[in-house]
Amino acid sequence: MKRILSGIQPSGQLHIGNYFGMMKTMISNMENSDLYVFIVDLHALTSVHDRERLSTGTLEAAADFLALGLDPDKCTFWVQSDVPEVCELAWVLSTLTPMGLLERCHSYKDKVAKGIAASHGLFAYPVLMAADILLYQSEVVPVGKDQKQHLEVARDIAIKFNNAFGETFVVPEPFIGETTATVPGLDGQKMSKSYGNTIPIFLDDKPLRKRIMSIQTDATPVEDPKDPDNCNLYALLKLFASQEKMDEVHDLYVNGGAAYGYLKQDLFELIRDYYADARAKKKELLDNQDYLRRVLAAGADKARAKATRTLDLVRNRVGLKY
Ligand code: ADP
Ligand code: TRP
Repeated sequence: MKRILSGIQPSGQLHIGNYFGMMKTMISNMENSDLYVFIVDLHALTSVHDRERLSTGTLEAAADFLALGLDPDKCTFWVQSDVPEVCELAWVLSTLTPMGLLERCHSYKDKVAKGIAASHGLFAYPVLMAADILLYQSEVVPVGKDQKQHLEVARDIAIKFNNAFGETFVVPEPFIGETTATVPGLDGQKMSKSYGNTIPIFLDDKPLRKRIMSIQTDATPVEDPKDPDNCNLYALLKLFASQEKMDEVHDLYVNGGAAYGYLKQDLFELIRDYYADARAKKKELLDNQDYLRRVLAAGADKARAKATRTLDLVRNRVGLKY
């Protein structure tokens, strides 16, 4: 069984890009892998400096995963900071991470350009992520395309460590879904919390419909042909509609007759129905925070057992055992 690991920051409302880029793959691998799923609150600290937002965001993220079908008995599910061993490993790894490797990371540059403070934590973010992955000896890491470079950094660090101290870490592989690598947002750019262009999964009907109606489309008249491959509305519909429906929509795009307003209404109904059960389940879970805390505490115990084994080995290899 492959060990599969991925995490999400509790830094805002879960959106369709997160779901198709990472979560859906994780949940669908529950039965046939050794699955590690976690909420990366230490990473979120690089952009959230608000006690209330971070702590409620963490419980919300836990409710999101469980509501969407993650079964905590079939995986290891925890909050990153509950296993502090990851910070020690991050330090050890940082001592062999070349500055140049981090300086090349575009995620850092993008975030600073968007106004996130250029802290040491933000710069060192990929090293902590490498520690997350290597601490659990992960083989496969499902992510969206935006995380590809971070996975390359994790691989580089693992190889460097293994060369310096002997075979210690599994060198992880990214898994990036072909059709879900980059889910477009309302404006056609990558859907992202930090671009303010998301469709959050758990919005109530009214604000959900409003968001979907605000998807930017071009001004081509209804009767004119349109290019489905360059339309974000089409790309979003494809994630939810049946093949039969998409054949029909494709025909309207190519031959004329696609009315964006009607298609947006279709998309609203599809998304509302797709997540209806999960939405109800999430409300229930948030009303039972003791249960959420119990699940996360049990998950942290499980994760920690694995983490201490790897960290012991690392301490031995580098000479931190005397
Ligand atoms: P955001 O960019 O909204 O802050 P996160 O950094 O929390 O999202 O991403 C969590 C996971 O969701 C990562 O694996 C990331 O690659 C994936 N992801 C985020 N946005 C998208 C998107 N638009 N398309 C595909 N995957 C995405
Ligand atoms: N950097 C990832 C993101 O922003 C979150 C993350 C932290 C992660 N540690 C990880 C993802 C380990 C996969 C594996 O989405």
